Amino acid sequence: MDVALATYLGQPRLDPDDVPLLEALLAEGLSAAPVPWDEPGFDWSKPRVCLLRSTWDYHLRREEFLEWAARISGVSSLWNPLPIVRWNTHKSYLRDLARKGIPVVPTEWVGAAARTDLVQLLSERGWQEAIVKPAISAGAYKTTRARLDSPGPAQALLDELVALGLEAMVQPYLSSVESSGERSVVFIDGQITHAVRKRPILERSGPHWQEADPATLGEEEASLAARVLSATGFSPLYGRVDLARDAGGALALMELELVEPTLFFTHHRPAAERLAHAVAALCR
Ligand SMILES: Nc1ncnc2c1ncn2[C@@H]1O[C@H](COP(=O)(O)OP(=O)(O)O)[C@@H](O)[C@H]1O
Ligand SMILES: [Mg+2]
Repeated sequence: MDVALATYLGQPRLDPDDVPLLEALLAEGLSAAPVPWDEPGFDWSKPRVCLLRSTWDYHLRREEFLEWAARISGVSSLWNPLPIVRWNTHKSYLRDLARKGIPVVPTEWVGAAARTDLVQLLSERGWQEAIVKPAISAGAYKTTRARLDSPGPAQALLDELVALGLEAMVQPYLSSVESSGERSVVFIDGQITHAVRKRPILERSGPHWQEADPATLGEEEASLAARVLSATGFSPLYGRVDLARDAGGALALMELELVEPTLFFTHHRPAAERLAHAVAALCR
């Protein structure tokens, strides 16, 4: 096998959004197939390249995932590479990027040991409404809205995260996520390929719920996404920059996904072809 597309046992098949990637790899003359990262007994020295795709349970067992990624790095070619995976699996990378001058959604970091009173925190920061979420997360895991007039559920979540020994983040609630939507900017092999408008995941409902709609890429979004990429100091093969506007309309980084992002290939097949082409070069 040339390329293993890493998924997870909970959902071992390829995510439908990655089907264009599989097709593009095959069109490059490569053999490729999905393999769950936690598949018992799989010989990871067999594939020449391991591409992380839908390993969507890593946030529940990050240490195990990082140990696995370190092992794979020793016997195959892992993308994105291990140092990127280590750095990007904890949202403390947002602190690093903020230090480098990237506008990041304002964040209060709540340590794993301390009890924090949400009402006090929100009052001090002047936030009417906030979001509580874990620092190691994916797919809006344990993410909830906190309102000053009814802080109960969010306070309970914050207490739960602290009790579990998990670092938490509190941010002002950006209503632009519901109105104009987050912009996800995808880049492959050093170039921005396309953007989509993400739907507000916390409000999702119904069987036909979709994650994103097509969007044109504004100059401001493209320029901030390029700055984010360059501030990482890494050269990731693929990634996604999620941006949102604050109450004043300024653009800020919500999330940078360099491990297992949905890359919205079904919205833009040339991006899948670009990634397959770069992977083919790695295999030669
Ligand atoms: N500060 C915020 N304001 C509004 N919505 C938010 C905020 N933070 C997170 N969300 C919502 O929760 C989703 C998940 O949060 P995110 O930071 O992207 O973490 P992850 O995708 O790793 O779970 C976002 O896509 C957005 O819909
Ligand atoms: Mg996200």
